[in-house]
Amino acid sequence: PKEISRETDDLRLQYRYLELRRPWIQKNLMLKSRFLKAVYDFFYSHGFENVETPCLCKSTPEGARDYLVPSRVNPGKFYALPQSPQQYKQLLMIAGMDRYFQVAKCFRDEDLRADRQPEFTQIDVEMSFVDQDDVMEVFDGFVTDVMGKVWDFTPPRHIRRMKYAEAMLKYGSDKPDLRFGLEIHDVSEIAAQSNFGVFKNVVAAGGKVRGIAAKDCVDFTRKQIDDLTTHVGRYGAKGLVWMRVKENDVVETQVSKFFTTEQLNAFRDEVGAKCGDMMFFIAGPERVAATAMGQLRLEIARIKNLMDPKVREFVWITEFPMFEYSETEGRYMAVHHPFTAPMPEHLQMMLDGNQKDCNAQAYDLVLNGVEIGGGSIRIHDPKVQEKVFRLLGLTEQQVRDKFGFFVDAFKYGAPPHGGLAFGLDRVVATLEGCDSIRDFIAFPKNTSAASPMDQSPSDVDLAQLQDLHISVNVANKK
Ligand code: AMO
Ligand code: AMP
Repeated sequence: PKEISRETDDLRLQYRYLELRRPWIQKNLMLKSRFLKAVYDFFYSHGFENVETPCLCKSTPEGARDYLVPSRVNPGKFYALPQSPQQYKQLLMIAGMDRYFQVAKCFRDEDLRADRQPEFTQIDVEMSFVDQDDVMEVFDGFVTDVMGKVWDFTPPRHIRRMKYAEAMLKYGSDKPDLRFGLEIHDVSEIAAQSNFGVFKNVVAAGGKVRGIAAKDCVDFTRKQIDDLTTHVGRYGAKGLVWMRVKENDVVETQVSKFFTTEQLNAFRDEVGAKCGDMMFFIAGPERVAATAMGQLRLEIARIKNLMDPKVREFVWITEFPMFEYSETEGRYMAVHHPFTAPMPEHLQMMLDGNQKDCNAQAYDLVLNGVEIGGGSIRIHDPKVQEKVFRLLGLTEQQVRDKFGFFVDAFKYGAPPHGGLAFGLDRVVATLEGCDSIRDFIAFPKNTSAASPMDQSPSDVDLAQLQDLHISVNVANKK
C-alpha cells in the first residue's frame, strides 16, 4: 500500500470516527470481535479460568520502558501500567489456579512501528504442571480450532518446530517467513581458501560468509544491485558480492580474479544456484552476516513477489538463547524475560556462570515472518531465579527492592508452570495479510504515541499536578 504522509495520517486519526464508517475497517473490527468470541469459547471449553489482574502495578526493571501513573495518596510514589501480566499470572499458579487466561491490555513505552502500539492487547495464558511440549500442543489445537475456524482454512494439526540456531542460519531471522525458499547457506570454508581479502579476513577474525541463490534474478540491473547493497548496509553489511550463473552453469563475477574456477563452482553448488540465478554473498561477524542476509532474502522475495498473502506458514521457534549481551547496557540481558527457565541440560552450565551458551525453554509462534506469540516454561526454584538475577547484573539489594514480593512467593512452593501470550492485534492483522495493526484497533495512537482525535497526551491543570505533588520541568513550557 502507498505510504501516507504524517499529515494525512494524523488527519485520518483526528476524524477516526468518520474513517470507522468505512466498510473495510468495520469488517476488520467485526472480524476481531468474532475472533475474540472464538478465543473465549476455546479457553472455557479447555478448562481455563478467566482472571483479571491489576493495571496499576509496581514498576520493575528488565522490560521495555514503563508508563507511570503518579499516586495522589502516596506522595512521590508511582504505579506502572503492566507491560504484560507476567508476574501476576505466575503468582496465580502459586495460588493453585491450574489454568489461567485473560484478554489483557498491555502498555509499553517503546519506539513504535507498523506492528507496535503503545497499548495493545494480549491473549495471555499460564498453566501448571506442564512442560514445553504440553504448551505447544495446546496451542497447536488453538491454531486449528480458533484461527482455522474463523478464517476458514486448515492449518497443520502439528505446527512445525524449528530451533533458533537453524532459523538464524537458514533464514537470518528468529521469525522466518517460510512462504518461500531462498535459503541461506554458510560458505565460510570455501571463502577462507580464496584470495579475496574481504572474505579471508572476516573468516580469520571468527566471522562468517553467507550466500544465497536468488532464483531467476540473473538479469538484476546495476541499479537494483546498488539498491540491495544499500539495503543490507542498513543492517551492518559492509558490502555485497554478487555472481551471475550463466549458460552451462558458468559463474561470472567482477571479483573473479580472487577465485579459482573450482572455488566459484563450489560457491554455486553450496548455495544451489542454477543457470539464470544470481548469487549474493555477505561477510561479517556472524550476527551481521546472518541478519543482513535475512533482510536481503526478504527484499528479494518482495521484488520477485514471493510473499503470497493467501499462504499461511506457521512455525514454532524453540531453543532461544537465554541471555544476550547488550553493548549499550554493557551486560547480559534476558532474551525473553528473567523468569524464563533454562533448558534442563543447560541448567548446570548456567549455575556455573556460563551465560553465553545457555539456551532457554522459550518458544515463539511465527506466522508469515511475524512473531504473533511467545512464551516459556518458568523458573520455579527460587535458587535458580536468584542466579538468573545475579547473571543479569542485579545485586541482592536490587532484587529485594524490585522483585522481593515475587521472589518471596516462591518460598511457599511453586508448581512447575509455563505459558505464553499472543498479540491479539498482530494475530488478526497477520491472518488478514496486513502489516499494520492500526487497521484493527478502533482508536490507535500515531507514531508519536499521541491521539490526534482527543489530543492526548495533553497538558493538565496546575491544580491536578499539585494534587499529585508533581512539578513539570520542560524547557519552553509556560
Ligand atoms: P512478549 O513480550 O513476547 O511476551 O509479548 C507477547 C506478544 O505480544 C505481542 N506484542 C505486541 N503487539 C503490539 N504492540 C506491541 N508493542 C507489542 N509487544 C508485544 C507480540 C508478542 O509475541 N509475558 C510474556 C509472554 C509469556 O512469557 O507468557 C510477553 O509479554 O505478538
Ligand atoms: P572493496 O574491497 O571494499 O572495494 O569491496 C570489493 C567488493 O566486495 C565490493 O563489491 C563490495 O561490495 C564487496 N564487499 C566488501 N565488504 C564486503 C562484505 N563484508 N561482505 C560482502 N561483500 C563485501
